[in-house]
Amino acid sequence: MDLENKNILITGASSGIGEALVKSLAEYKCTLFLISRNMDKLREMQNNLSSFPAEINIYRCDVSKKDEVKLTAAEMLSKSDTIDLAILNAGISRWVFPENYNSADAEETFGTNFLGMIYWIENLLPKFIERKKGTIAAVSSLADNRGYSGSGFYCASKAAISMYFEGLAVDLNSYNIKVVTIKPGFVKTPMTDKNDFMMPFLITPEKAADIIIKGLIKEKRYIIFPYVMYMLTRLVGLIPDRLYEFFARQPYFKVRNKQSEN
Ligand SMILES: NC(=O)c1ccc[n+]([C@@H]2O[C@H](COP(=O)([O-])OP(=O)(O)OC[C@H]3O[C@@H](n4cnc5c(N)ncnc54)[C@H](OP(=O)(O)O)[C@@H]3O)[C@@H](O)[C@H]2O)c1
Repeated sequence: MDLENKNILITGASSGIGEALVKSLAEYKCTLFLISRNMDKLREMQNNLSSFPAEINIYRCDVSKKDEVKLTAAEMLSKSDTIDLAILNAGISRWVFPENYNSADAEETFGTNFLGMIYWIENLLPKFIERKKGTIAAVSSLADNRGYSGSGFYCASKAAISMYFEGLAVDLNSYNIKVVTIKPGFVKTPMTDKNDFMMPFLITPEKAADIIIKGLIKEKRYIIFPYVMYMLTRLVGLIPDRLYEFFARQPYFKVRNKQSEN
């Protein structure tokens, strides 16, 4: 894919991986549509990148709110007519243990991570189908392969994304619409800064953005990184369920105790 002269939507553009993607994509002569709930941050990014080749448009939108996504998409499409590449990256993680168990965290996690993507796709797809063109890239996670303790809602939401996009890729193939599933390992961002445990093969958001952009240019179906972490999660995925639960209990107690102190 040639990124020049493309209209590119990025959700979760105000921080971490999304922010790093914006900074890298701003080097191309493309039009960026940035989405987040934090307009001050988006405005600051727009100002800082004003001398870059990309044209930057910013929108306040809570992706977990279906009506807000509909209104924002309509506003965007009235300006640009079409989006060529949608990078659906907005996401949250919550630590939920039996002691603070609550469905509100599940609603928020699924509403943002999973439904937030579906709402965007709902609004973009008719144009994509009409043009028989477009790319939808979803940021899932390497945490989609097992239910990790304390982050079950997060893992389940990422598993839902990976699974859903597997089917979507097949459905959209005949319309020439590309589907990309992005699965990062640990990336140093505000999301992971609150993790008080060892994060193997942690990489910077700039490195993550670089890998993602190279993968998008090469039109990869899956962009999975870092490779060693991928292999490690594949191995963890192969451990028999009972054995996995036995070993997972140790980090569970450690993480739970630390999180409950915060
Ligand atoms: N960091 C990692 O190790 C890692 C690993 C695998 C996958 N991921 C995934 O990568 C994506 C980006 O994560 P990150 O690490 O860059 O986290 P981050 O620094 O916390 O950034 C999250 C982004 O999502 C946006 N967001 C959250 N809720 C939103 C909502 N309701 N509506 C609109 N925007 C919302 C935030 O913007 P506002 O708060 O300004 O709205 C922010 O821009 C997430 O999907 C995450 O699950 C991260």
